[in-house]
Amino acid sequence: MTIIESVRGRRVWDSRGNPTVEVDVTLASGVYGRAMAPAGASRGTREAIDLRDGGSALRGMNVRRALANVNGPIAAALQGRDVQDQQSVDGAMLAMDGSPLKDKLGGNAMVATSLAVLHAAAADAGIPLWRHVADVAGTTPSLPLPEIQIFGGGAHAGRRVDIQDFMIMVPGAGSFDEVMEITSEVYFAAGAIMKEKGRLAGVADEGGWWPMFDSNEEALETLVAAIEKAGEKPGERVVISLDIAASEFGKEGRYRLALEDREMQSGAMIDLLGNWLDSYPIVSIEDPLAEDDIEGTIEFTRRYGDRVQIIGDDYLVTNAALVRAGQEQCACNAVLIKVNQAGTVSESLETFRVARASGWGAIVSARSGETEDVSISHLATGLGGGQLKVGSFTRSERMVKWNECLRIQDSLGVHSFVGGEPLADTWWAAAGAGRMPAT
Ligand code: PGA
Ligand code: ZN
Repeated sequence: MTIIESVRGRRVWDSRGNPTVEVDVTLASGVYGRAMAPAGASRGTREAIDLRDGGSALRGMNVRRALANVNGPIAAALQGRDVQDQQSVDGAMLAMDGSPLKDKLGGNAMVATSLAVLHAAAADAGIPLWRHVADVAGTTPSLPLPEIQIFGGGAHAGRRVDIQDFMIMVPGAGSFDEVMEITSEVYFAAGAIMKEKGRLAGVADEGGWWPMFDSNEEALETLVAAIEKAGEKPGERVVISLDIAASEFGKEGRYRLALEDREMQSGAMIDLLGNWLDSYPIVSIEDPLAEDDIEGTIEFTRRYGDRVQIIGDDYLVTNAALVRAGQEQCACNAVLIKVNQAGTVSESLETFRVARASGWGAIVSARSGETEDVSISHLATGLGGGQLKVGSFTRSERMVKWNECLRIQDSLGVHSFVGGEPLADTWWAAAGAGRMPAT
């Protein structure tokens, strides 16, 4: 048993220049763990709430109240606890908060503390964080398959296009290193195409190219062209993954595509997305319908669940009970794991466990507001058989996560890359059989 000696929070700043919470958890030996809270922009209504001060200063985003909770009640409750007992640490915070959305202590205060305890426990045991995660979760580590954004959109790009993330996955690569190389070629090929068309206009929140497109389809066409320009055949080694983030433009079964000035019912939205699945090499789609559209999500899964990965993000908010409900209703076949959506490490691991126990996919994910914290690279690797979504292939708050995986690759070995293997029994076997774009 190694006792937590102190818990200390400080204010730091995220990739959007907003204040956020950093926590140091220190042990008697002087060994410590440190973590930072990320922040979402397209948030689910049922996810843990970040405690912000409100008012006019710092756009209401200050975190003094959350820090007071870390340095006051949280520190008092955690001092003297065993750093190796993540469950008891998280349980103490949950009991103290007691609210469904964690707005008493603050999701930001809780997640930074919970992750800092995880880091401190790994440091105490003298092992890398990914190894410690595997020990806690009882999993076999392997490097994850990344989803990497080429164009940003939706709430991350002033709603320039409706769809939030146009991403690639490279399940045909032989190693994590090779994924990085191919992604770099595709990313810059996309930039070159935008430049040729006179459409290059900087980047969106997560570092993907700013989406200067006249339609959502034009973004998809350009992505296919970029994959080809990079010397790859779309649908073979490189495939497309989308985050529709439909809760941002859909409510009560009605969807409003601002770019095309078009409003449609849930059924028409499903047809539209189905057309895209038929026309482009898309193997994974996140939040295809809004978080309140249960019937639509069930119907979408009934129609396409055997050929694409259907990820619930805002729809499931890293909540084990919602994943169980989704499994019973056959809505989605994968869950996004965002630790700050759940609020604690223990709850996130439970959600992962529930998902994988029924053969669902599980994708560890960053937020659009990020920091130099690399915990999720270790989480995705330690959990094994997983996927990792971090944003684009520029900007250090993103690259730091990919680069950390390359460092882990040095200790785990290049062959630890998940590749197509554990995915074979879920979506990749069906989707990855080389489906080609219609064009
Ligand atoms: P957010 O979005 O971090 O802005 O909430 C990321 C996502 O929808 O996956
Ligand atoms: Zn999402």
